[in-house]
Amino acid sequence: MAGGAIVNTGGGKDYPGKLTLFVLLTCIVAATGGLIFGYDIGISGGVTSMDPFLKKFFPEVFRKKQEAKTNQYCKYDNQLLQTFTSSLYLAALVASFFAATVTRVLGRKWSMLVGGLTFLVGAALNGAAQNVAMLIIGRILLGIGVGFANQSVPVYLSEMAPARLRGMLNIGFQLMITIGILAAELINYGTNKIKAGYGWRVSLALAAVPAAIITLGSIFLPDTPNSLLERGHPEEARRMLRRIRGTEDIGEEYADLVAASEEARQVQHPWRNILKRRYRAQLTMAVVIPFFQQLTGINVIMFYAPVLFETLGFKNDASLMSSVITGLVNVFATVVSIVTVDRVGRRKLFLQGGAQMIVCQLVVGTLIAAKFGTSGTGDIARGYAAAVVVFICAYVAGFAWSWGPLGWLVPSEIFPLEIRPAGQSINVSVNMFFTFCIAQAFLTMLCHFKFGLFYFFAGWVVIMTVFIALFLPETKNVPIEEMVLVWKSHWFWKKFIADEDVHVGGNHLQMAKNGRDTKGADA
Ligand code: BGC
Repeated sequence: MAGGAIVNTGGGKDYPGKLTLFVLLTCIVAATGGLIFGYDIGISGGVTSMDPFLKKFFPEVFRKKQEAKTNQYCKYDNQLLQTFTSSLYLAALVASFFAATVTRVLGRKWSMLVGGLTFLVGAALNGAAQNVAMLIIGRILLGIGVGFANQSVPVYLSEMAPARLRGMLNIGFQLMITIGILAAELINYGTNKIKAGYGWRVSLALAAVPAAIITLGSIFLPDTPNSLLERGHPEEARRMLRRIRGTEDIGEEYADLVAASEEARQVQHPWRNILKRRYRAQLTMAVVIPFFQQLTGINVIMFYAPVLFETLGFKNDASLMSSVITGLVNVFATVVSIVTVDRVGRRKLFLQGGAQMIVCQLVVGTLIAAKFGTSGTGDIARGYAAAVVVFICAYVAGFAWSWGPLGWLVPSEIFPLEIRPAGQSINVSVNMFFTFCIAQAFLTMLCHFKFGLFYFFAGWVVIMTVFIALFLPETKNVPIEEMVLVWKSHWFWKKFIADEDVHVGGNHLQMAKNGRDTKGADA
């Protein structure tokens, strides 16, 4: 198996231990943190296409929508409406920096608890909103919740999981995101039918359900051995490691954790430290991966699918239904990556998913161009519309087994302990910043780029796919505290890491230096 080669050349080993029920349960509970993020992503598109909501808060958009002859591409273009969707992501960006300190000093679970609680308040405020200010303040609180959850959950999962199954367990987070999105879309479909016009309130208030789940769940979650050790509880850490691995034979893994935590303890300033030359590879990935993830254009579909489908001439109900279909595809395709990520590895999924997205985006752009041209007027036939939906679904599937889950998995597993929370914050904040940009700019971009928007994103996916091919080594099956060996044996990144920077002991360093480049490890 190619994976064995990587573990060996990377110098890593597989520790003893199995997937215990205890780990499985804690990981499922922690992953529900993804629900709150997903619910937000899925809920705003449907709500912002509901007439009673628009009439109450954004009457100008409502008026424009009524004028049948307006340019299809431009009917939703409104800054305030986009601010409703995007304010959440700005708040999450800022919050993730505070979350890094909480996660490091108090432990991963307290970050999850703070996230759940703030989110709960935000949901209440949104459901009761009387004016735009209340709506946006509610969205900001939801954003703080998301910032805390997305900062702590992926790290928690990657630390709890045995190396061999880390991909699978970590992607539980992304699976919950997609379930959150789908639940939100189904709820919108139902609440849109409420004649009295308060459906949007129900949609927004129901965010309290996933919030309650993660809030309660996090109270019962144990902390990770890595975090216990880092915070000076070696005995508890040892006990926890035995418990989660289901074996007494934890000596080697424990020794690696101790080495990692000693090094971590010497670091006073994780933020300054992360800028050191030897972390250049990890820092680059923490910035570039979330940036690229958003530049796949996925959130154009996730936030605005109903709006997009209406733009294409679908009726309101049909467009909500179509977004439910893409939501279902998103969930099922995520399962594909859960099953394959620790076997075929991260790189193959990235490359295949990327190729699939490029083709689909080019086709969708062309289909829309052929129908609406640049004037943005025209009627779309049923079969034609169905073809657009099919290619959009294939695009979503490509994303859902590549950049979706891996955009959270890879950054959470590549950092050494001492800079892990800081690195994860960079990942979350870059992700949120570009999520914000897309949410804020999409309706305007659609109005100006028209069908070219799909070509624009296709171009980015080409760039990111080449980037992965050249610069991302395979990380499957490598124990998390030994990841430095993977970088040390990569054709490009090895330049940045001196021998003295590798502290995993044994003859691993020599093996890493002799090993073949991990760039082509799965070739
Ligand atoms: C991304 C979100 C996206 C979602 C779609 C996540 O990994 O971070 O921005 O909406 O996947 O499933």
